[in-house]
Amino acid sequence: MHETEAAVGAEAACIALYDASDNRLHIKFASGEKSEAVKGVSLAMGQGILGEAAATNSTVRVDAVQEDSRFDGSVDKKTKFATRSILATPIRRRQGLLGVLEVINKRGELVFSESDARLLEILAGQAGIAIENARLLERTLQSDRLSTVGKMASSIIHDFKTPLTVIQGFVDLLGNPNTSEEKRQTYSKLIQDEVKGFLTSAQDMLQYARGETRLSVEEVEIDTWLNSIADVLRMNLTKANIELKTGFEFKGKVWLDQEKMRRVIMNMASNARDAMPDGGTFTISTAQKGNHWQLGLHDTGFGIPVEQRSKIFELFATFGKQNGTGLGLAMVGDIVEGHGGSIRVESCVVGENDNTNSGTSFIISAPISRPGTASGKSSSEAGYRD
Ligand SMILES: Nc1ncnc2c1ncn2[C@@H]1O[C@H](COP(=O)(O)OP(=O)(O)OP(=O)(O)O)[C@@H](O)[C@H]1O
Ligand SMILES: [Mg+2]
Repeated sequence: MHETEAAVGAEAACIALYDASDNRLHIKFASGEKSEAVKGVSLAMGQGILGEAAATNSTVRVDAVQEDSRFDGSVDKKTKFATRSILATPIRRRQGLLGVLEVINKRGELVFSESDARLLEILAGQAGIAIENARLLERTLQSDRLSTVGKMASSIIHDFKTPLTVIQGFVDLLGNPNTSEEKRQTYSKLIQDEVKGFLTSAQDMLQYARGETRLSVEEVEIDTWLNSIADVLRMNLTKANIELKTGFEFKGKVWLDQEKMRRVIMNMASNARDAMPDGGTFTISTAQKGNHWQLGLHDTGFGIPVEQRSKIFELFATFGKQNGTGLGLAMVGDIVEGHGGSIRVESCVVGENDNTNSGTSFIISAPISRPGTASGKSSSEAGYRD
């Protein structure tokens, strides 16, 4: 618009955009002395010279506005600007009217010429392309956002399916009159844990959507902690004809965010279950390597094809699953990284290296002590996402 002003030698310029929903022209951009006051002004089709250019779909040139009946002085009155001459031309694209480009007051007490009018028409063509591009970009960004939101929503549902199934199972057991008091206590505790996990997941999801994820690390007896997770998992996996094996070589305390690491294991187990539609074995193991502890998650499933192995940790990378969102391993990667750890995958599909057995192992390695410090006492927050 500044270029337009300079090119035709005008004191001011403005662009009004046409809004089909109210059939009016809204001044969105303006340059010149009273540009701020003029922004936001709206005109009906046919109102003033600007409206005339839109309604007649042609360039309108008025040398002395005060003598022209089409001129609408209300904007001048409002902005305390003295309009003398106007040149206005419609901005059009294939889909129709986009708006109007208008220049006001030829500098040096002159009037706009025919060649100014042609120049303005060319500039209006350029403006039309720019407006159309901006709108297309806006639409693309909007649809990107919507598809991310959709993916997030399906992931939330996906992540909540497991705890809900587990809770339902325990509630059934609680309702059984033959269940002993001791068992009731156990089930009630397990339900509480699941609900807590459920709520934390919801919180995590929201934080993830906002791009702010924090760790709340504490010192955890790894053996006991994993056993309690295994109890819940076993119930779920047995139904899918999957045997859960554990081998906890490393016994001791490690610094971790219990809820987030629990989600890592739950996500891994859910992937393993998907990879073993006919049942199999899922093994959780631990080991110590220097000042790191290792968590191994192994399944006897169909394995990950070579060409997919490098992609599985990418956000939204999912292969052949009806309701897969591809968020699982991306979040796992983030959480492990947040613990100052790393994750690697070893997998084998049938036929690869003449192998008759297939399966996948994920090995997570993380520092035993709290990242950045040798020791600490209470639960604390550690940011892990920029
Ligand atoms: N244990 C496994 N065995 C075989 N393939 C796996 C295993 N774990 C992950 N994959 C592959 O990695 C892909 C990405 O996993 P990820 O957990 O990120 O997403 P997803 O499981 O497809 O979706 P969601 O977690 O939302 O259900 C999976 O689609 C699958 O192809
Ligand atoms: Mg998954």
